[in-house]
Amino acid sequence: MSLIIQNLRHLNHLTANLAPLLKPGHRLLLNGEMGAGKTTFTTSLCRQLGVTEAISSPTFTLVNRYEGAIPIYHLDLYRLHHPSSLLDMDIDYYLFSADAIVIIEWAEKLDYLYPDTFCELTFSHKSAHKRLLTIHSVGEDYAAFSEALSKPFA
Ligand SMILES: Nc1ncnc2c1ncn2[C@@H]1O[C@H](COP(=O)(O)OP(=O)(O)O)[C@@H](O)[C@H]1O
Ligand SMILES: [Mg+2]
Repeated sequence: MSLIIQNLRHLNHLTANLAPLLKPGHRLLLNGEMGAGKTTFTTSLCRQLGVTEAISSPTFTLVNRYEGAIPIYHLDLYRLHHPSSLLDMDIDYYLFSADAIVIIEWAEKLDYLYPDTFCELTFSHKSAHKRLLTIHSVGEDYAAFSEALSKPFA
């Protein structure tokens, strides 16, 4: 399913509808070019989940952990050059953590380690404030996500 995110207010509407569905063990895999809106989406969603601390792309540290209503791991794989580095960072710990939500920017770099079930959100730039968002969910745990993201925005 695809939709156009009209502006940042619309993005906040989407994350407000998505946040109540999120449970420990959920994986959000974010893709899209630099500046497409992955970190902005993550920040908006984390605010909805009660995170008050600063949120930034963990480009150098690779992983941030935030304490919201549910713990959140925020990964950014941009600097990852080879999938073997995923094993060095113990990617399975994050991908299969049962008590936290994991949000991964540049998830395409997971390559052959892409998990079996996930909600993948792909962003692409349309204009200054508009983004095309494509939602691809795999697995029963994510069945309600597309519908939540389709609620009308006034
Ligand atoms: N509808 C929108 N959704 C997401 N970001 C938007 C939107 N409109 C404008 N922006 C801006 O685009 C930029 C996206 O940057 P960022 O989220 O860091 O991208 P990425 O993490 O994908 O590299 C931010 O400056 C943000 O304010
Ligand atoms: Mg980013």
